[in-house]
Amino acid sequence: MSSGQLYDTIGASYTLTRRTEPRIGARVWAALGDARTVVNVGSGAGSYEPPGREVIAVEPSALMRAQRPAGAAPCMAAVAESLPFQDQSLDAAMAFATVHHWQDPIAGLREMQRVARRVVVFTHDTSDTGWLRRFWLTRDYLPEVADFLVGRPSLTEQADAIGARIEPVLIPWDCADGFFEAYWRRPAAYLDDDVRRGMSVWARVGPDAEQRTVRSLRADLASGRWAERNRDLAALDAAELGLRLLIA
Ligand SMILES: C[S@@+](CC[C@H](N)C(=O)[O-])C[C@H]1O[C@@H](n2cnc3c(N)ncnc32)[C@H](O)[C@@H]1O
Repeated sequence: MSSGQLYDTIGASYTLTRRTEPRIGARVWAALGDARTVVNVGSGAGSYEPPGREVIAVEPSALMRAQRPAGAAPCMAAVAESLPFQDQSLDAAMAFATVHHWQDPIAGLREMQRVARRVVVFTHDTSDTGWLRRFWLTRDYLPEVADFLVGRPSLTEQADAIGARIEPVLIPWDCADGFFEAYWRRPAAYLDDDVRRGMSVWARVGPDAEQRTVRSLRADLASGRWAERNRDLAALDAAELGLRLLIA
């Protein structure tokens, strides 16, 4: 199944929990510099599209395109690996939380660089094995996430493909966008079906691993074991969990 098809299956309730986190949005928009024309690749329902610029979106999933709000930028049905634009015809190309779904991330990143003079990508550092251990959800409950990394290009390989610099992005404790790592200090959120439906990870690991995780986490929250193991998180306002901006 291609990732566009995946989102045609799992994307129905995406906008219940997924929206622009303003502090992370500000980082993306600053990285876009003075770009006037911007393509948002893998746009989904349109989170993080910058105000005050001329935006065009690209999104392969019809279900995701249908969730774009009235008045959102126009959206084309296409994939990152084959963008329907002329060489260097846009000031900037951005992609948020989508590269890990692309069949060929390197090809997609090169396409972004072909069509635009500036490239801004928000993604996570899968090359860092510490990433799996840093986040308690993958470390203690869902080690299967490591399987997703097999055969995927590392962050360094992705950055090198487009000559990008890499900047860390901390996740605020009250992050408004419900991506996988967003609730690092609000563990009970992962018990909520709506919260999990906004994260593709659960569809990818399958129902057995999902239900096992929910059962174990619920038990550990009730017994105090989670709090005991993660005592250091209570004092943090933002966490470094491997999220990165690539800027070229
Ligand atoms: C987690 S969502 C992120 C959507 C949006 N950028 C956001 O931040 O809310 C990932 C999106 O990538 C899209 N996608 C999957 N494969 C893609 C590809 N090859 N090219 C472009 N987008 C793709 C999916 O359909 C889905 O809408």
